[in-house]
Amino acid sequence: MNEWTGIRPPQAVHRSPFSNMIQSDLLVLGSGIAGLTFALKIAQERPDLKITVLTKTNETESNTRYAQGGVAAVWDFKTDSYQKHIQDTLIAGDGLCDEKIVEIVVKEGPDRVQEIIDWGARFDKKKDTNYDLAKEGGHSENRILHYKDLTGWEMQRTLSEQADLTPNITVLEHYFAIDIITQHHLGHTVTRVTPGIECYGAYALNKETSEIETFLARMTVLATGGAGQVYRNTTNPVIATGDGMAMVYRAKGRIQNMEFVQFHPTALYNPAGDNPAFLVSEAVRGFGGILKTPQGEEFMKKYDERGSLASRDIVARAIDREMKIQGAEYMCLDCRHLDKEGFVAHFPTIYEKCLSIGIDPMKDMIPVTPACHYMCGGIMTDEMGRTSINRLYAAGECTCTGLHGANRLASNSLLEAMVFAHRIYLEVKEKIDATHLPTASIPDWNAQGTTDPKELILITQSTKELKDVMSYYVGIVRSNERLKRATDRLYILYKETEDLYHKTTISPQLCELRNLITMAYLITRSATMRKESRGLHFTTDYPDELGFIDLTIL
Ligand code: FAD
Ligand code: SIN
Repeated sequence: MNEWTGIRPPQAVHRSPFSNMIQSDLLVLGSGIAGLTFALKIAQERPDLKITVLTKTNETESNTRYAQGGVAAVWDFKTDSYQKHIQDTLIAGDGLCDEKIVEIVVKEGPDRVQEIIDWGARFDKKKDTNYDLAKEGGHSENRILHYKDLTGWEMQRTLSEQADLTPNITVLEHYFAIDIITQHHLGHTVTRVTPGIECYGAYALNKETSEIETFLARMTVLATGGAGQVYRNTTNPVIATGDGMAMVYRAKGRIQNMEFVQFHPTALYNPAGDNPAFLVSEAVRGFGGILKTPQGEEFMKKYDERGSLASRDIVARAIDREMKIQGAEYMCLDCRHLDKEGFVAHFPTIYEKCLSIGIDPMKDMIPVTPACHYMCGGIMTDEMGRTSINRLYAAGECTCTGLHGANRLASNSLLEAMVFAHRIYLEVKEKIDATHLPTASIPDWNAQGTTDPKELILITQSTKELKDVMSYYVGIVRSNERLKRATDRLYILYKETEDLYHKTTISPQLCELRNLITMAYLITRSATMRKESRGLHFTTDYPDELGFIDLTIL
């Protein structure tokens, strides 16, 4: 149900009378910006195609809806240029961006932003009717289009409303995709080097009936978002458990750059352990907010001449370091000198949230800490959104396109999701007529096992342990010793969880735990393999590439 309009047209699901099988032309996993942008574009171009979108909770619950700062795009060519946006992205990415991909995203970005505006998205304007372009860390110009501090909410609203009005899109809520279907499910041996692995759709758990249904499709698009829930303190909603990346890894597809986990420097200090942690947008620093110690001293200039607006990896590490030096639980964001009217107009949600916990941003400094925010790594895709598995495409935060390299530039991810959703649409439009449903019969999911409700505590406890391991040993500052500890502990959690998975009935909680363990393993293994510090990956054993301050004492 779309919470803004209440629109939910009848959802026509064509089930086979003989099994739990549903056939579509295109299957999309995920209803955030990446999934819905693709679904809308192809549905509008080809009204004859049947597109099924599965989403594991409500249609509108996604990382997308929580995006605050906005979407970066070159808009004012009098002051800005593609070259400047490209350069800022490359600098943030610390030598690991794919320059061709950066150029594609930056140059195609403005057209994609215009498209969502044409679908009805509102972005704030100045009095002169030009867009009010904001600035965030690492950007050399004002180029962030935003809707107050609710940009993601507005974009999700627009896309969900459009999708609900498009007759050949069926959005099925509360369907939890478990695994993509490949030759493996037909009994063939599939290894990571098997050529020509193919995807025929996905198995998904209908959370209302607890039945596992088979969704067959000519082509599948994964848009399942990030995995912030692998850490204890995260800005990501509880749906962000890395399901799509884990599915591709299990299906022997290629995943890359998992060591580059972005911690946002300024989540609201969260002593109660709220999940998710509330974000204080980087745009607040773009608006003039300054990072200070609780005693009121500025510290960012020690680390980078850009001060509070240095790129995110640098700011998060600096805050982490200052907290450790002082034994403090938080640093502060000082907004007391800013114009109240402007602050409230730009950041109404942040202002209200602060007031609700007794902090008046105009009188008090806002206590902040870093929190896990974004996965720069993910499913490896090429310039058309193709994965290493045939008939399987991916877009959005679950991917590693080459745009972000070792560190994502703020507000580049909504842009990336739209650009690659569009490129997958171009590719699918070309190929769909020559791509047919598989002729081999696909078996139903073999559901075995029983659940002992008493054992649900094992899942909850293991999830908590997993988050602790990742937060203590694979956080902002890493070392060989910490990574070794994490690896040993993760192995135990892995063995216990696989055992549970094979003897109990599948539940979303168990699948999510299994996927989070896969994420944790991939992050830890990739971090162990990188024998240097670069971008978001900092290790005390190989600090060489750091280049701004030696953190080895930590
Ligand atoms: P999502 O929007 O997360 O959507 C994923 C979808 O997949 C959801 O519908 C989910 O239900 C579904 N799904 C997941 N697993 C399954 C499964 N197993 N079965 C079925 N469905 C599944 N980026 C910016 O560019 N600018 C910003 O200002 C910004 N601010 C942010 C603020 C916050 C607090 C957060 C958390 C992120 C922010 N980001 C920002 C990042 C950005 O919001 C995300 O990277 C982007 O929205 C991801 O879009 P997506 O479509 O890939 O995934
Ligand atoms: C923010 O508003 O600070 C988040 C921006 C982003 O993650 O891109």
